[in-house]
Amino acid sequence: MSRTVIRNGLVVTATDEVLADVLVDGEQVAALATPESGQADTWADGAERVIDATDRYVIPGGVDAHTHMELPFGGTFASDTFETGTRAAAWGGTTTIIDFAVQTVGQSIREGLDAWFAKAEGNCAIDYGFHMIVGDVTDQSLKEMDMLVGEGITSFKLFMAYPGVFYSDDGQILRAMQAAAGNGGLIMMHAENGIAIDVLIAQALARGQTDPKYHGVVRHALLEAEATHRAIQLARVAGAPVYIVHLSALEALAEVTAARDSGFNAFAETCPQYLYLSTDDLGRPGFEGAKYVCSTPLRPAEHQAELWKGLRTNDLSVVSTDHCPFCFKEQKELGLGDFSKIPNGLPGVETRMDLLHQAVVDGHIGRNRWIEIACTTPAKMFGLYPRKGTITPGGDADIVVYDPNAGQVLSADTHHMNVDYSCYEGRSITGRVATVLSRGKVVVDGGEYLGRKGDGRYLTRGTCQYLR
Ligand code: URP
Ligand code: ZN
Ligand code: ZN
Repeated sequence: MSRTVIRNGLVVTATDEVLADVLVDGEQVAALATPESGQADTWADGAERVIDATDRYVIPGGVDAHTHMELPFGGTFASDTFETGTRAAAWGGTTTIIDFAVQTVGQSIREGLDAWFAKAEGNCAIDYGFHMIVGDVTDQSLKEMDMLVGEGITSFKLFMAYPGVFYSDDGQILRAMQAAAGNGGLIMMHAENGIAIDVLIAQALARGQTDPKYHGVVRHALLEAEATHRAIQLARVAGAPVYIVHLSALEALAEVTAARDSGFNAFAETCPQYLYLSTDDLGRPGFEGAKYVCSTPLRPAEHQAELWKGLRTNDLSVVSTDHCPFCFKEQKELGLGDFSKIPNGLPGVETRMDLLHQAVVDGHIGRNRWIEIACTTPAKMFGLYPRKGTITPGGDADIVVYDPNAGQVLSADTHHMNVDYSCYEGRSITGRVATVLSRGKVVVDGGEYLGRKGDGRYLTRGTCQYLR
């Protein structure tokens, strides 16, 4: 078994910060020791590799619990494959993704899941698991959900948006939540009132309001808040927890906060785009705003302070990317002259760890909280802890050596995601990944990718570890 020693770094986890040396043996972390103990000299004897992490952080690999590689949407497909998207994730210090397998209407869950296994198998640079999008809640789907929990796919996304595509009505949602209450699964909710939004879309288009900025107008913050409220109440009736995905509106956050204050297990994630981008981007001149079309939509900048507060108070407990890239040329352009035809989604799997480190630099959160929201909580929320999400003996050696002082400028010219633009083009940030280990193997080092397609393994997950 090959051994790697990482010396003299500041090991940062969700709970601790300590100057320490780390011994990696094979695919796992074997031990940590203080530099003064001299242990690392012994470990270094015969080690295949010794990494000097002086003046650097040694952090767990990121866990991105919300990605959409190759997602079919609006007549096209998300432009990152499992190969390109997971490689870009590794470049950005993320070593685990949980992607959404899709059941479409008329399809069994098993068929949808098998198709996702086929897309991912042998192609991933880092470890991966699946959530299941239940697009057709039927008697059969409910039985299949029980089976999936037994097989390690323990979370299910439902949509209150997109009527005629992924949409579930309240009765279907209630039934799926009742199933989750029985089988220990976690319902993840896309909380937007899609029926009302479709009315507003038709009215806007009839008025000739076709530009990308109207995407944000029709997907009103109160329609996110209303759906969030309804999702929580349905979950309470069913006696099931609920996890609200890609929360962007302060009014929706208030619903989650109220539910949590009353003692109910409502969880929520937000995404870097809601923390750093706004309706100003959606309103960029010409058709450029299409680059920023995602759902839930970007909000006015005033929402951001509330989202940061929610991250500090744990009313928002996870930051995922909702990585769902579409090229500006030919893909976003499908919506020229009709904003409702712009494929929804943004690239982000590569930039999440860095943007959240920037939040540490800017004073929004502390270092431990950075790791908690980006690594540890997603691992616990989706049944992967402590194998993933921390640095501990026996856990997988998914480790990032992070240079907190290096500057970088985000750009499509230098990123590795398979998409022709960056949402953060030209933005200067402080901090960057130096070295990435995925299960003990160095996959990124000194600006070079050293991994291979197929390095990543499928992860069977347990149930939510906040509910046990
Ligand atoms: O705009 C988004 N979020 N696209 C991906 C699909 C989803 O709803 O998460
Ligand atoms: Zn969604
Ligand atoms: Zn999504």
